[in-house]
Amino acid sequence: MHVAVVGLGKLGAPLAAVLASKGNHVLGIDINPEAVRLLNEGRAPVEEPGLQDLVSSSRDRLSATTDLAAAADADLSILLVPTPSDERGAFSNEYLLAALEKLGQGLSARDDYHVVVVASTVMPGSCDAEIRPALESASDRRVGDTLGLCYSPEFIALGSVIRDMLEPDMVLIGESDTRAGDVLERLYAGVCENDPPFRRMSLVNAELTKIAVNTYVTMKISYANALADMCERLQGADVEVVTDALGLDTRIGSKYLRGGLAYGGPCFPRDNKAFGVLARDLGAEPLLAEATDAVNVSQTDRLARVVQSRLEPGSAVGILGLAYKPDTAVVEESAGVALAAQLANAGYDVRVYDPAATEAGLRALGGAVRGCASAAELLQQSDVTVITTPWPEFADLPIDAVERGGRRAVVIDCWRLLPEDRSNGTVEIVRLGRTIEEASPV
Ligand SMILES: NC(=O)c1ccc[n+]([C@@H]2O[C@H](COP(=O)([O-])OP(=O)(O)OC[C@H]3O[C@@H](n4cnc5c(N)ncnc54)[C@H](O)[C@@H]3O)[C@@H](O)[C@H]2O)c1
Repeated sequence: MHVAVVGLGKLGAPLAAVLASKGNHVLGIDINPEAVRLLNEGRAPVEEPGLQDLVSSSRDRLSATTDLAAAADADLSILLVPTPSDERGAFSNEYLLAALEKLGQGLSARDDYHVVVVASTVMPGSCDAEIRPALESASDRRVGDTLGLCYSPEFIALGSVIRDMLEPDMVLIGESDTRAGDVLERLYAGVCENDPPFRRMSLVNAELTKIAVNTYVTMKISYANALADMCERLQGADVEVVTDALGLDTRIGSKYLRGGLAYGGPCFPRDNKAFGVLARDLGAEPLLAEATDAVNVSQTDRLARVVQSRLEPGSAVGILGLAYKPDTAVVEESAGVALAAQLANAGYDVRVYDPAATEAGLRALGGAVRGCASAAELLQQSDVTVITTPWPEFADLPIDAVERGGRRAVVIDCWRLLPEDRSNGTVEIVRLGRTIEEASPV
């Protein structure tokens, strides 16, 4: 098929490459000329594992332009532009509407069948209330005749976007009518490698399903973190042991049930908040989403309490992990950045390191902390080291080599990454999610 992907960011660029890799002719479109230039040169416009390989191997079916109206030449256009949260936590459609205005102009000059697919996260009700009227007005065509409208979000995690697109748990399609949904199902059926179930439904049901999925997952994470908090205060308790057994109950399941730190990134916190805002706006009960968020926000204080119990005036604290999760350089709403900011604000000497996100983290922290060149360097320089992102390489931290000249050294292992036998007489290892003993005097 001929597909236009509008928005070549963290999701759009991988989607364009994935579609092209399966034999589709893909036109990537972005208002950012740099993203367009890079793609036309055969270079990935964003960092994502495996993306460069796909771009390189699909060059003959992948091109890019800044001309939004050119999307009308394709069979389908898929919109993956930002939908930033407003001050209440609702998603704004301003970028989508701006893109639709230009795309509509292109569509107004043609009359062959075209499907517009919104894949950005939107407030439930947006497609019917705002997007369909905007598309019809800009294109001077009616949805349902020669124009289809679908809502089909991606369920991906940064760092595994390509695999998640090729092997989704399900494909969710909200459709204005059967013909539009048929076209989109045909496209994705030719792309997915795992024969996933397709769920086709009205536009509003698909919009609600998207944020309901993430809200449920965040609820599970906050639940596990609330358990971890209790385990830290309960003699002999260990969250890992409890969640391992809990997850075996098929009504619960083990995914995302791991006591650790706050969830972050560009999706979970926003989707959960938007779910709460929607409930409030509808006059429905927002408690579940709001409690999930409140538990999440409280995680920085939970961690800071433990860290500060080990710090003394003038102590140097090192934070290992600024990305909101491993395998990405994205630091948005990350637990490591939040902790670094809080401790720097409290006057501690803070240094940071992340295998992929030291630069991004330093930018976000605005000069309040110092960067280190490696985890080993940070460990050597810090009285208290906190492992905030579960990068697998942190399990090999050279604890045995720590030499602090008699000063107290503590490693706070928030994800219980360090092997149990890893110790050194001079380093205290505090594993979060297990009973935390009072700090002993040095
Ligand atoms: N990043 C994630 O993990 C994730 C996961 C699920 C859903 N989403 C949703 O997907 C959407 C896109 O997210 P993203 O992370 O890829 O965003 P992004 O900011 O990485 O990329 C968006 C791209 O859209 C371009 N753009 C902006 N306005 C445009 C316009 N009018 N026409 C053409 N291009 C335009 C920008 O230049 C940018 O390259 C958002 O709604 C987001 O909530 C993101």
